[in-house]
Amino acid sequence: MFMTTNRAPSKIIPRAFPGIKPGEVEELIANSQVHTYAAETVLCRENAIETIFYMILEGEVEVTKVINQTEARVLKTLSAGDFFGEMALIHNAPRAATVTSKTEVVVLELDKQNFDRVLQHSSSVAMAMVKEISERLRQNDEMAIEDLRMRASELAQAYQKLAEQDLVRREFLANVAHELRTPLMAASGYLQILQKGRLQGNQLNEAIETVSRNVGHIISLVNDILFLQEIELVLPAFQPVNLGEIAQSIVKKYEKKATERGVHLKVRNERNVPEVNGDSKSLERAVTALMDNAIKFSPRGGDVEINFEKQKDWLAISVEDHGIGIATDQLSRIFDRFYHLEKSGDDLFGGIGIGLAITRQVIEQHHGKLNVESKQGKGSKFTMLLPLETGI
Ligand code: CMP
Repeated sequence: MFMTTNRAPSKIIPRAFPGIKPGEVEELIANSQVHTYAAETVLCRENAIETIFYMILEGEVEVTKVINQTEARVLKTLSAGDFFGEMALIHNAPRAATVTSKTEVVVLELDKQNFDRVLQHSSSVAMAMVKEISERLRQNDEMAIEDLRMRASELAQAYQKLAEQDLVRREFLANVAHELRTPLMAASGYLQILQKGRLQGNQLNEAIETVSRNVGHIISLVNDILFLQEIELVLPAFQPVNLGEIAQSIVKKYEKKATERGVHLKVRNERNVPEVNGDSKSLERAVTALMDNAIKFSPRGGDVEINFEKQKDWLAISVEDHGIGIATDQLSRIFDRFYHLEKSGDDLFGGIGIGLAITRQVIEQHHGKLNVESKQGKGSKFTMLLPLETGI
């Protein structure tokens, strides 16, 4: 083939192999063939047994190698004057990488026999080849080492995460057992008394009432635990939810309990609350948990208020009480599963500390935020922020 442009093999070969003698260039050209390939042609395939050596006369190729069994990493882009496909021929091994044309490429090709002959005859070609191969091997080694390092650190991180999860799980189990034991012991104690059959009248009613309250407590704890476990596993289909209506129905549900405790419930700005995209059951549960705590920690005659406010792209729902409040150093812990304020003055606040963990989890599931403002002795205000018009 006759070429007069600067892609002529006689011009390009000396660029690849500095010091090559004119006779050697002639020999190389005489034993090779020029081929043109379209873009996106695979010229060398990693791991394949192939026996052609290439020198690029025109165009560009990309050298890639698969790491981690899935990810193809680009090692280098080669252009006119660069060669490839030499490693498999010299090592008698499968291709070390994949070489794909990025543009249309014109290449000079040598088969193994001719390649070996040129290598034996020309020290300049051999020298250039040794230099280039050692550089490529070094680069490939570095990549492999870097890859190993990355994988080792990924493994270490995964291991640490697992260890943390394991700890959380163990603490969770211990807490569950502990939380269940109190009402179970109470119920079982009263059942033993009942079994003796000596209680009558008011005493009998009280004992039955205590057993029933404790069993109710166990059921609600088990339900909460199941809910919390489930919410981590299944993502419900989101739909438009009217939280104003939900708040009203929660207040209705809690009216009796609040009256018994002398607590006043109020809902503000619940009309025309913009709908949020979410799961109504989970959101109801989240607000209920806040409400439950607010009533629990309110003094007699205290107010609990649910308020709605639109804040830019967020819907803010706050639940505020004027009860005992939370100490600053305890604020960060209150969302832990089972954390609860056991004692305040002489009042024992029993009950399951799983509520806030549920609220937090639901908010996370809805890509929202949860803020808490609280001062000891002054009360607490929990604000759920839910995104409006999300494309979830
Ligand atoms: P071979 O193994 O025959 O086939 C794939 C080719 O990709 C290989 O020869 C080299 O020519 C080329 N190659 C491998 N690793 C590199 C690298 N790090 N940089 C440039 N080219 C490479």
